[in-house]
Amino acid sequence: MNDFIPVNEPLIGQEEKDYIADCLETGWISSEGPYVGQFETEFSKRVGRQYGITVANGSMALEAAVAALGLGAGDEVIMPAFTIISCAAAIVRAGAVPVVVDCESDTWNMDVTAIEALITPRTRAIMAVHIYGLPVDMDALMELARRHGLLVIEDAAEAIGQTCRGRPCGSFGDISVFSFYPNKLVTTGEGGMIVTDSPALAERCRSLRNLCFIPESRFVHEEMGWNMRMTNLQAALGVGQLHRLDAHLARKVEIGHRYNERLGGIDALTLPRAGTDCADNMYWVYGLVLADGLAMTARDAMQELGGAGIGTRPFFYPMHRQPVFRKMGLFDGISCPVAERIAVRGFYIPSGLAMTNEQIDRVADAVAKLFA
Ligand SMILES: Cc1ncc(COP(=O)(O)O)c(C=O)c1O
Repeated sequence: MNDFIPVNEPLIGQEEKDYIADCLETGWISSEGPYVGQFETEFSKRVGRQYGITVANGSMALEAAVAALGLGAGDEVIMPAFTIISCAAAIVRAGAVPVVVDCESDTWNMDVTAIEALITPRTRAIMAVHIYGLPVDMDALMELARRHGLLVIEDAAEAIGQTCRGRPCGSFGDISVFSFYPNKLVTTGEGGMIVTDSPALAERCRSLRNLCFIPESRFVHEEMGWNMRMTNLQAALGVGQLHRLDAHLARKVEIGHRYNERLGGIDALTLPRAGTDCADNMYWVYGLVLADGLAMTARDAMQELGGAGIGTRPFFYPMHRQPVFRKMGLFDGISCPVAERIAVRGFYIPSGLAMTNEQIDRVADAVAKLFA
């Protein structure tokens, strides 16, 4: 279908194309090329951190973060029920135990006020994840973590360029991670970054990303790492994208406001919250939650919109309901009613940076038509 509106389409400019051409012309196509270091320096500076370590994707960034902090058997890590599986997978693969907290019904972020009740003598860390465009209240979360002596992993994959009370998302955690998948505000195709202010953690992540090679004795390994290196080609794309971040943020907000205006009057829909004490929404994705009384589920709505040539995505499926974890005996008897409800009633509509205003209006009209 020619006029299909995908849920996301990235915006790639001439600067990115020039940098990539430079990689091809100079032959620097592996992780050894100069854009990797440039991207790490410029990106970590933008989020106010000392060190940036590029990796192959955001999921690997989480794996490395969990490993670098030394989390493992017997350790409990408190995390949101409502997030991508990469968060829980990193914890489980390390042999640690994910403990889920429900989300707030209006921000869809983890309910920070519910964390303290989950802390046990085995709790070692909190994984905070900023969801869909609004930040978690990191001031409250960090205060709680410090008071209980807990480590913090901050997943800011969805919050590139977002802030919490004026401070960049990604600047709070002992270790913080980003993804540069094409739906993110800075993309490298596939890619991720770990940021931290700790020289020891940075060094540890660099080693883990590069198979734990020991410089003095190449091919002799004391430990197992991964090859999770980012290529120079990807980093070249990232450098160009980073230079457009403010324009990307402004456009996301414009898209969000345009949807707000057009969908604001529909009682059957909960729209993304415009802002909180922590920040204005930057509408990384534009989520909709159908009212409880409606017979229509998110799946029905997505099917209708698909028929009208509009791409959508369902909301996350809660971690404590994931068959893969249930089969491992995790999350027995756990319930998170908000995450469970929005997983069935929530979905998001197209908001890619390459979208035109005409496309936004077409999507909004199609959504409104569902409730006419
Ligand atoms: C919050 C969050 N964390 C981690 C990831 C994983 O990133 P990637 O897709 O680059 O592996 C994503 C998804 O892109 C995400 O939304």
